[in-house]
Amino acid sequence: MNNKVLFLSFICVIIFSNTVSAQDLAKGKKIYETRCLVCHQADGGGVPNMNAPLDGASNVVGNNIARLVRIIRAGYSEKVPLDGMYYNNVMTPNPDLKDADIANVLSYIRTSWSNKASKITVAQVQAVKGKK
Ligand code: HEC
Repeated sequence: MNNKVLFLSFICVIIFSNTVSAQDLAKGKKIYETRCLVCHQADGGGVPNMNAPLDGASNVVGNNIARLVRIIRAGYSEKVPLDGMYYNNVMTPNPDLKDADIANVLSYIRTSWSNKASKITVAQVQAVKGKK
């Protein structure tokens, strides 16, 4: 392979990966707006004592990806402290969301507002079996 071909394929890879990730976040945002915003709010700040914040939440930007995937699939009402606070609303499950949808919405909440964590791939979601 000559250098020109190598260079062109390199550019293609960059363009391709950029469009893919931009699209994933746009899809994640749409899912967030239709399914999550009502409780977690547009700014990810949640509602005190009711709905946990996602912006700045240590679990949301943390490394326990399996826990996050299970929360989206099965909902959440463990009533354990989250960053020292309790929230008494019940998060509804999303059994109809595809693995790709879950990857997109988790990528969105991990990279939005002040959150700067890694995006989540479909493979990472697929690796989590079961609802609980
Ligand atoms: C009906 C309101 C409601 C909806 C809709 C909702 N949530 Fe939640 N969510 C909650 C509540 C309440 C908690 C905390 C429950 C508890 O502490 O027992 C929570 C917890 C979480 C957590 C864990 C936070 C932490 O610090 O560990 C994540 C992540 C999360 N929600 C993401 C989402 C996403 C993404 C969506 C949309 C697909 C969504 N939620 C939809 C109410 C909701």
